[in-house]
Order: sequence, then C-alpha cells, then structure tokens
Amino acid sequence: VDTRVSAAPAAAYSELTELDVQHFTTVVGGSNVITDEAALEHYNTDWMRKYRGKSRLALRPGSTTEVSRILAHCNERRLPIVPQGGNTGLVGGSVPVDDEVVLSLGRMNRVLAMDEHAGNLVCEAGCVLETLQEYVWKRGYTMPLDLGAKGSCQIGGNIATNAGGLRFLRYGSLHGSVLGLEVVLADGTVLDNLTALRKDNTGYDLKQLFIGSEGTLGVVTGCAIALPRAPTSVQLAFLGLSSFDAVLACFGAAKRDLGEVLSAVEFLDAESYELVNRHLGGRPPPLAPGSRHYMLLELSGSRAEHDQAKLSGFLEHVMAEGLVADGTIAQDQAQSQGIWRVREGITSALGKEGAVYKYDVSIPLAELYTLCEVMRARLEAHGALVTGFGHLGDGNLHLNIYTPGRFNKDPAVLAAIEPFVYEWIAERRGSISAEHGLGVMKPAFLRMSKSESMIELMRGIKGLLDPKGILNPYKVLPPLSHS
Ligand code: FAD
Ligand code: MLT
Ligand code: ZN
Repeated sequence: VDTRVSAAPAAAYSELTELDVQHFTTVVGGSNVITDEAALEHYNTDWMRKYRGKSRLALRPGSTTEVSRILAHCNERRLPIVPQGGNTGLVGGSVPVDDEVVLSLGRMNRVLAMDEHAGNLVCEAGCVLETLQEYVWKRGYTMPLDLGAKGSCQIGGNIATNAGGLRFLRYGSLHGSVLGLEVVLADGTVLDNLTALRKDNTGYDLKQLFIGSEGTLGVVTGCAIALPRAPTSVQLAFLGLSSFDAVLACFGAAKRDLGEVLSAVEFLDAESYELVNRHLGGRPPPLAPGSRHYMLLELSGSRAEHDQAKLSGFLEHVMAEGLVADGTIAQDQAQSQGIWRVREGITSALGKEGAVYKYDVSIPLAELYTLCEVMRARLEAHGALVTGFGHLGDGNLHLNIYTPGRFNKDPAVLAAIEPFVYEWIAERRGSISAEHGLGVMKPAFLRMSKSESMIELMRGIKGLLDPKGILNPYKVLPPLSHS
C-alpha cells in the first residue's frame, strides 16, 4: 500500500534554498535555526525509531509572531513544514516523510495565566505535560489528562493528537477540556480563539477542528484548558484475573459499586506483565502467579477513609464471587507508583524485546480481547508474539505484535497483520485509531473507519485552510491515488 499521501492535489513543493535559511535566521535568530546533520537526527527520527525523515532544517520559534512569520514564508514559497511537539507520537506524524522543514515548539513553554476561581490554565503550546501537572497540582488542581509520555509530550502535541490516556474515563476528551486555542494558519494568519469561557455558543466552534488534526490544519501556539480540582484521596488496586470475561464482569461491578469515584480502569495481559518485569526491573506487586489478565482500578475522591472502605469492600466482594483471583491495594505512594510503572512501562519494554507492530484500536468491549486471540493464532507460524493492554474503561485496546530478538521489520509478519486487522475492526464498526491518530501509518486505511463522504469533507476543510498543502503533508488524509 502506498502510504504517501498527497493532501493538496499536485502539490509541487519548492526546494529549500540558502536564502530561505537566511530569512528564517532573521525571524528566530541563528541559534534557533538547526542545519547541522547530527543535530537534525533528533528532529528527523520518531520515538519508536520507526520513521525517519530527511529534513535539512529545523526551526525553534519563541513566539506566536515568529511562528506566523515562518508559516507565511513557507506558504509563499511552497515549503512543506511539520509541526513537532515532544516527538512522542506513535504513528509517525511528528517527523518529516521527506525533507519538510521541522517546526519545533519546545521553546514556547510559558504558562500565561491561571484562574484559580474558575479552574483553568492558559499556556503556550510547547509546555511539557508533566511540568503543567506539577504547576497546577501545587495550586490544588490537576490536568485533565495523563499519559506515559508525560515527561516529554507537550500540551500542543496532546491537543493536535487529541490524546486520550489514563484518565479519559474520568475527565473525558480534550474536545471537552480545551476551552480556547490560539492557532496559526498555513498562510500565517493568527486565529485568536484563546478565551477560557465555559460557555460560548457564538457560531461554529472552530477550535474543535484543530483538536486531533495532527498539525495538518494549523499550528497550535496557545491553549486554555479546564482544570478539575486535584483529588485529595487517590486509591489504587491491582487485580489478577483468570479470563477476559472476568475482566469485563469486574469492570461492570466497578462501574456499579465505585462509579462516582472511579478515575481509571486499565488492563494488561500476562504477556505485557511479564515483558515489563523482564525489561524494566523492579519488583512486581506480589500477585498470584498464573493470572491471565490484570486490571488497575483507581479511585479519586475527597474522603480517603470512605474511598478506602469502598475499595476494600469491593475487592472482598469480587474475590468472594470468584471474579478476581488475587488483588492488592496500594498502601502508599511508592506502591502506587510501582503499580503504575507496570502499566506505563509496557511501551518501553516492548521496544527492548524486538520489532513492534503497534495497533491502537476501539472495539466493542465484548470482543476487545478477541482480537488479540485471533492475531495470536494467525501469527504463531511467523514467530511473532501478541500482547494486549490498554484503556479498558474507554473500550481502547493497544494490540502489539512483536518478534523477540528480531529487531528488523519482517514484511511477512506485516502482510499477515495488514489489512486483516483493519478489516476485522471495520466489520465490528470499531476505530482503526482510538487515540494515537493516523499520522503517516494509517491514512491509507482511513476508509475502514470513515465513509467516502466524510473523507471528502475532510479534504475540503484541508483545502480551505491549507490550499497549498504545506502543513504536515502525507499525513492523515488518504492518498489521492486511492480515491
Ligand atoms: P508529537 O509527537 O511531537 O506530534 C504528534 C502530532 O501532533 C504530529 O502530527 C505533529 O505534527 C502534531 N503537533 C505537535 N505539536 C503541534 C502543535 N503545537 N500544533 C500543531 N500540531 C502539532 N497517546 C495517547 O493518546 N494516550 C496514551 O496513553 C499515550 N501514551 C503514550 C506512552 C508512551 C510511552 C509514548 C511514547 C507515547 C504515548 N502516547 C499516548 C502517544 C503520544 O505521547 C501522544 O500522541 C502525545 O499527545 C503526542 O504529543 P507530542 O508533544 O509528543 O507530539
Ligand atoms: C499507552 O496507553 O500506554 C499508550 O497509548 C502507549 C502505547 O500504546 O504503547
Ligand atoms: Zn494508550
């Protein structure tokens, strides 16, 4: 399948010249113009080291005005450009496909305002998620999202990918939490929608277009985010279960008995659990060996004694019913971090094992794990193993296929996975990308999740906002040759 996408028909891009570089130097200053080959490696390579571009130029603007001037020039000259946040994306969206200019937002990392009455934060797009979390936590609030990449990913990248993560179940999508955005359009126009109002029904809600658009419609330079109050009581349980049916039954019971304080429901299978223990060291929580599946249940509330009693009562109940084989409740911060480390460490552990084929999908819950079993049977002959984990509470499976000890991608393994996996999902009206986006990995398969008329409308929007197709080309939209 040709995964190169032409976003704008017959987009003919210009060659970058020395004059362009000189112009950009006057905009951002020499130290923020990166042309050195070794230094560019970082900007050209994605987190998984799966995608590699050939950019000869990365720019590090320090303000919205600088972003605007850069885009105006790129648009005028037809120079393609890739916005890049923390470069933790998992679908190749953040790195060039060819020799696009890289626009790295990391210098734009200032908090601009926080309203402690209303509970909102206004900041620049390059702020690192964990830094923002620390900032708001000190002031009694929490960010409405959390993910394993929090130490590197940026809020602008989170918005551009509409990242889901570990607390989506509780705080919902960024489509709800983002109150306002400042976006620079392809021609350099600054779209100032940076209000922090809760309610504003004045026509089309334009900011929503940019949330999840993966840098193809505009560059997010600033945002206003609604902040939930920080919970004063957080409880975490780690459960071992013998079947996926038991996992589903336990999830149902948790919603029934703990619903009002539930803040995360995550799961992993035994393969994931063993991978983390093998590669990341540290001692796993003491659980009965032989559990087939594991669950993390987190409660966030305001009365520790009440929540503790609820959680231990729940655990006794599900164990007495035979749903849960073994379980532990974290007694302190260290134990809690140890448990979260198991869940958040799977992605890194997988990368140490061999080549990884990652699929991030939504499927109706009843069949969520069936896909892992189907793929396991299908891939056995190829010496490829299958693991499943993810955001159970959101119906989001991370299906990962890996080849222990073999770090090069194997075309035979890929051919056994695709397009089968996408067809299987489409037959169940699932989504081929639950939270990671399409990037350069999935545009060719977009038709498995979106109708022709929806894709045409998307193309129309792209054409309206970026008629020369300079913004993150080859990403998100399917190749025109497949139309
Ligand atoms: P990048 O990777 O730099 O970019 C991602 C996309 O956004 C690219 O298309 C890029 O062009 C665009 N972009 C970046 N910044 C801007 C901007 N300012 N304006 C316009 N476009 C921009 N994702 C989840 O959803 N849930 C998870 O639980 C999760 N866990 C992860 C755990 C690990 C260990 C890792 C490595 C990744 C994980 N991810 C997860 C994927 C990734 O972290 C998210 O997609 C994240 O939101 C990307 O942010 P970033 O700043 O790194 O963006
Ligand atoms: C996660 O939930 O851990 C992330 O989305 C990362 C991954 O899918 O590997
Ligand atoms: Zn995830």
